[in-house]
Amino acid sequence: MSGTKLLDAIRAVVGARGLLTDPADTAAYTQDWRRLYQGRTPAVIRPADTAELAEVVRLCAAARAPIVPQGGNTSMVAGATPDADGSQLVLSLARLNRVRAIDPVDLTMTIEAGVTLKAAQAAAAGENCLLPLSISAEGSAQIGGVLATNAGGNNTVRYGNARDLVLGLEVVLPDGQIWNGLRRLRKDNTGYCLRQLFVGSEGTLGVITAAVLKLVPRPREVAVALCAVASPEAALALFTRFQAHDPAAIQAFEFMSGIGVGFVLKHIPGATLPLRQPGLPLSQPGPLAQPGAYYVLVELATPRPNAGLRAMLEEVLEQALTDALVLDAAIAESEAQRAAIWRLREEHSEAQKREGASVKNDVSVPVSRVPEFIRRATAACEALMPGIRAAPFGHLGDGNIHFNLEQPTDADPAWFLAQDHAIMDTVNKVVRALDGSFSAEHGIGRLKPYMMPDWRGGAELATMRRIKQALDPLGIMNPGKVLP
Ligand code: MLT
Ligand code: ZN
Repeated sequence: MSGTKLLDAIRAVVGARGLLTDPADTAAYTQDWRRLYQGRTPAVIRPADTAELAEVVRLCAAARAPIVPQGGNTSMVAGATPDADGSQLVLSLARLNRVRAIDPVDLTMTIEAGVTLKAAQAAAAGENCLLPLSISAEGSAQIGGVLATNAGGNNTVRYGNARDLVLGLEVVLPDGQIWNGLRRLRKDNTGYCLRQLFVGSEGTLGVITAAVLKLVPRPREVAVALCAVASPEAALALFTRFQAHDPAAIQAFEFMSGIGVGFVLKHIPGATLPLRQPGLPLSQPGPLAQPGAYYVLVELATPRPNAGLRAMLEEVLEQALTDALVLDAAIAESEAQRAAIWRLREEHSEAQKREGASVKNDVSVPVSRVPEFIRRATAACEALMPGIRAAPFGHLGDGNIHFNLEQPTDADPAWFLAQDHAIMDTVNKVVRALDGSFSAEHGIGRLKPYMMPDWRGGAELATMRRIKQALDPLGIMNPGKVLP
């Protein structure tokens, strides 16, 4: 089938509203969030439901036309945009945006792929439940993409990754068949666990169109603090103190560098460091803005009423201040203060983008080795490129650090980005020495397939290739992503 005939057939399925071909309309779908790659596409297809989407995939398979599924297009590794060849069709999930059901007794939510994570959280909250997954991009990121990439985020320390929240899936397979696996069972031990095959497959094995997700009861008490600490070692020591008190209460434990917080204060309008609250019984008052400090954001939460979380937070921080483990701390007194503290953390990527070119390393090491990783990786990068600015931040509680490197202030951004492999390889050497992973939560996308043979070669990569061949023998699903 010629390209025009295929698009005519697709238009007959999705209607004129479901097919964008004007370059002005498709432009936003062809560039990744980080603006590392500019692709081209003949069309963006926007089906209204699973049946339409399945029919589109069947037509594409018959024409052997490559498909790039796309949700909110927030990938950090360019996993959802077409290449520059001009033949890959973008399949947008945005119109599959219904919350099909929420069951507060089963604690489950059945939801379509195009619902944004933020809207899904709000729908769960409306039933007094919590969807315990939170990422910086949640305002735009959609459930389908979040699952296809097995997103991690801020609550992994307590609830695990996206993978751990999935009970059931609906998937359109590469030949257009619909697999309805929307079961909401806590136990279902019936052969290969297909849903986990699609979670984290980044659209290379099929298109996730809906899911059943686990919910938890909504927290009744939440306490958040921002702490200044002198070193990554002090940040880890503070984490172990909270763990010793009540590991089940830790909802997030996030790490930031002074330089990264500085970027947020400089580039994000309205962002401020919180002031110490008058009357707060923390013994050694001092400014949060300690030069050279690192920061920790700790969030405690519980569904139990009157659990005394705030008192526990104060007790741990008081002692840590007395022991000079924490230099200063502020506890949020209101929802607005809580949001302001979180903003300092969540705007990190945006602020780094505005500061100039940056190279990201989304890596993980055992939690106990995070401080050593930060020190060794910083030294190695500074030796590689004098003037490079390390701005590590991320999910200390689960060992996932975004070891992001900002260009030297006087460097040409394009020149700096051209050094990305040398920089990533330098960081990854340290990661490997500490038994870590080169991709903790962002996935592989188009940025990292070249690393796969080195890190996951042999039987592991060979098995992945066989799975790909078995499910997508025509190779039409998100070509060029994940597998080298
Ligand atoms: C985050 O945790 O904010 C993200 O994963 C983003 C990033 O690495 O830039
Ligand atoms: Zn992250």
